Amino acid sequence: MTQPLRLGIAGLGTVGVGVVKIVRQKAGLLAARTGREVRITAVSARARDKDRGVPLDGFAWEDDPVALAQRPDIDVFVELMGGADGPARDATEAAIAAGKDVVTANKAMLALHGQSLAEAAEAAGRVIRFEAAVAGGIPVVKALTEGLAGNEVTRVMGVMNGTCNYILTRMEDAGLPYEEVFAEAAALGYLEADPTLDVGGIDAGHKLALLAAIAYGTQVDFGHVELEGIQKISIEDIRTAADMGYRIKLLGVAQMTGRGLEQRMSPCLVPADSPLGQLQGGTNMVVLEGDAVGQISLRGAGAGEGPTASAVMSDIIEIGRGSRITTFGQPATGLKRTQPARSANPAPYYLRMALVDKPGALARIAAALGEAGISIDRMRQTRHDSGSAPVVIVTHKTSRAALDLALEGFTDTGVVQGEPVAIRIEAV
Ligand code: NAP
Ligand code: HSE
Repeated sequence: MTQPLRLGIAGLGTVGVGVVKIVRQKAGLLAARTGREVRITAVSARARDKDRGVPLDGFAWEDDPVALAQRPDIDVFVELMGGADGPARDATEAAIAAGKDVVTANKAMLALHGQSLAEAAEAAGRVIRFEAAVAGGIPVVKALTEGLAGNEVTRVMGVMNGTCNYILTRMEDAGLPYEEVFAEAAALGYLEADPTLDVGGIDAGHKLALLAAIAYGTQVDFGHVELEGIQKISIEDIRTAADMGYRIKLLGVAQMTGRGLEQRMSPCLVPADSPLGQLQGGTNMVVLEGDAVGQISLRGAGAGEGPTASAVMSDIIEIGRGSRITTFGQPATGLKRTQPARSANPAPYYLRMALVDKPGALARIAAALGEAGISIDRMRQTRHDSGSAPVVIVTHKTSRAALDLALEGFTDTGVVQGEPVAIRIEAV
């Protein structure tokens, strides 16, 4: 008779508890689909006596996740603690060294150490799977690794942080400023323990770097993701964008260009009536483009107990079925080191600034744009108050380098109050 697939689960928080529930409640379905019983042998978390709302009887307990990872009675180490380093990384390395396969939801650990962990796993004949690490319940890792394996991927794009999308849509719907909605999101428990991971674009940048590695056969390179968070997005920007038929989204784009791999995660204006523009609340959407398939979109819950546990289970079942897919879809030792490229694909930009309300101020801004080779598409001056003139300019397509030159030029004019806001308008 086929042996059961024995799991050791480290981390019994939101995701870990979700996995325990599915294994407990769907034993028959899992056994039928895996071709063998899926059994939890042992678990680990910090507080042994905490009520987790799910029975843990019948599972051995380990205080130390490294000891859990090394137990002879587990086949798969399921890492659901989080954190790029510390116990998550130590236990994952220990599991591989002890001959276990690994399933993890930990995008931070893989974005920073994915290459070395993948090499170690492959040298030991083990696999690391991480469907839950990117866009929660959306099966985007499998879509790229398996479904689109026959394509040259031309672009990976998406909204991959539900918290930021919640904040941006709530600001627009309720007409509230960023600070107020941020406080609401914190009260609702949406933010990571370190909120900068969400609003600074870091969490979404980790996810983009993982998808780019699979898409382009490159070593995961989070260090070269151009990152910009949503902290500077004001209700004025959201309202002005809406007036012009756009919505602001924290959008990730990874694209292989002739100069190297472009990876950026930043607020962008997208058409309000596009699928990305229509994305509400905590939902995620990933758009994949391949030379043979064209464009496909995957949309769904990017976080939460059920959706994330669903993705973890898909990896566990994949391993239980005997599938041995390499971490990034090809042998880790063959992954190329990336030549990073700053985004050079031209795009129109939205610029908002407050000008000193005196003759010639606008002319100096127009001149600074002209000197950088940037042409103005649309412009409007919204209202005057206390000597300040708020101005919004939409440029024709230009490169980020030219835009930066113009922004430097703005400083020299001496007519701009505060820092101008510059947001790319993305064709999606
Ligand atoms: P969480 O609710 O904070 O749970 C973390 C768990 O890890 C807790 O049970 C905690 O124990 C345990 N833990 C922490 N340090 C430990 C240590 N040194 N030894 C043993 N156990 C330890 O986190 P989560 O939301 O479930 O997230 C888990 C992972 O999934 C993270 O990598 C996260 O980025 C990823 N993820 C989460 C979501 C989501 O929606 N939550 C979505 C996608 C990916 P105690 O309970 O005893 O404190
Ligand atoms: N903080 C993340 C988000 C959780 O808001 O999308 C899922 O990775």
